[in-house]
Amino acid sequence: MRNYCIWNCILVSNFLLLRIGNVDGIQIWGMQFGRAPLLEKFIWKKMDFAYPDERSRQLAIASGEYVPENSLPVGIEIWRNKLFVTIPRWRDGIPSTLNYIPLDANQGRSPKLIPYPNWAQNKAGDCGIGLTTVYRIHVDICDRLWVLDTGTIGIDDTTVQVCPYTLNVFDLTTDKLLRQYRLRSEDINQNTFIANIAIDLGKGGCNDAFAYMSDELGYGLIVYSWQQNTSWRITHSYFMPDPLAGDYNIGGLNFQWGTEGIFGMSLSPILADGYRTLFFHPLSSYREFAVSTRILRDQQLSQNSYHEFQILSSRGPLSHCTASVMDENGLQFFNLIDQNAIGCWNSMLPYTPINQAIVARHDDALIFPADIKVKRGLLWIMSDRMPIFLLSSLNYTDVNFRILIMPVQTAIAGTVCDNGPVEIY
Ligand SMILES: *[C@@H]1O[C@H](CO)[C@@H](O)[C@H](O)[C@H]1NC(C)=O
Ligand SMILES: *[C@@H]1O[C@H](CO)[C@@H](O)[C@H](O)[C@H]1NC(C)=O
Repeated sequence: MRNYCIWNCILVSNFLLLRIGNVDGIQIWGMQFGRAPLLEKFIWKKMDFAYPDERSRQLAIASGEYVPENSLPVGIEIWRNKLFVTIPRWRDGIPSTLNYIPLDANQGRSPKLIPYPNWAQNKAGDCGIGLTTVYRIHVDICDRLWVLDTGTIGIDDTTVQVCPYTLNVFDLTTDKLLRQYRLRSEDINQNTFIANIAIDLGKGGCNDAFAYMSDELGYGLIVYSWQQNTSWRITHSYFMPDPLAGDYNIGGLNFQWGTEGIFGMSLSPILADGYRTLFFHPLSSYREFAVSTRILRDQQLSQNSYHEFQILSSRGPLSHCTASVMDENGLQFFNLIDQNAIGCWNSMLPYTPINQAIVARHDDALIFPADIKVKRGLLWIMSDRMPIFLLSSLNYTDVNFRILIMPVQTAIAGTVCDNGPVEIY
């Protein structure tokens, strides 16, 4: 069985590698980026948008509607021929927060972003119609795009809540909004800041769906049930930051993010009991935690299950992590923002540093790998130099934003992540 899968996987990754090389003619950066080749798919000095023509683009610049230096991409997602890129409205002049790049058209190495589903539905402050600020997004296997709009403009002290926190679910096959749900006032508090979402599809098909939204600064987890069309908030002390883990050194800057709680989430495959495990971690922490979706999905149970939450081992020093993702084989990838790197863990093995490995590292190309996704046997990484953008200033004659890809099999080959028992789905 194991031999069969290895052959299958190698064939799949070779096929993808060839196909990508042929379609886009992109560069493969051999060992330069770390132990395995990392392919630089797209690069930008500044983000640009696909205005209908150059005149309307110039008018947008003149009016301040578009300020090229102010766009920082933070989230990516992939569905068929679309690569989604999100940009929060932290500063003025962000014309659109939810965007995509067509993967089947040759747009060059620095493609312009196309608002999704259109310009009108990306108008800031147009509550109920336009998206104001979107961070991480998620596509499920039912061709739905899950988008949490925080409704905010600004960051930290400059934040203004212009619209309520609203979950939007798009049908990607029609580009129509399937559902819109405003979080209840009980779901949030005055510190709420939600930048991440995980989607849990159960055995019951597309209607058996739950969204988990991590409240990084309000220290909660908000659960939305698709079937019940309602939400609830869970609190737990494991959602809080470790007060000893709030000091960071990234991109040559030292800074403190001491209040950053629960952020990264990833979901295991469905286990024998019919539920997944949600793995999560506060940003200012070196630890991973876990809880069964059996607890999260049950509103009553979720309020009174302190001991159902599990503590995993520490990842060790220099292991602050924002984004994490787990593939259908139970292989977890996570960014290591202090190390300009991406790590892996095979969840068949205990969560300890010895069972984790680095799959990519680069001190220029991977400064702040803000988001990662696994799609079609490929690991997708976006790096954006976020701390430099927030605390200093980016050098706009240099490449600041990158989307890189790497076949999963190549990434884990020869590491401990390739050692666990392989399950075939
Ligand atoms: C879900 O609930 C919201 C109110 O909380 C309502 O506006 C919306 O129409 C409901 N959607 C469905 C599909 O029932
Ligand atoms: C900005 O980036 C360019 C291109 O990499 C480099 O030549 C230049 O020295 C940088 N400027 C500063 C001030 O670091």
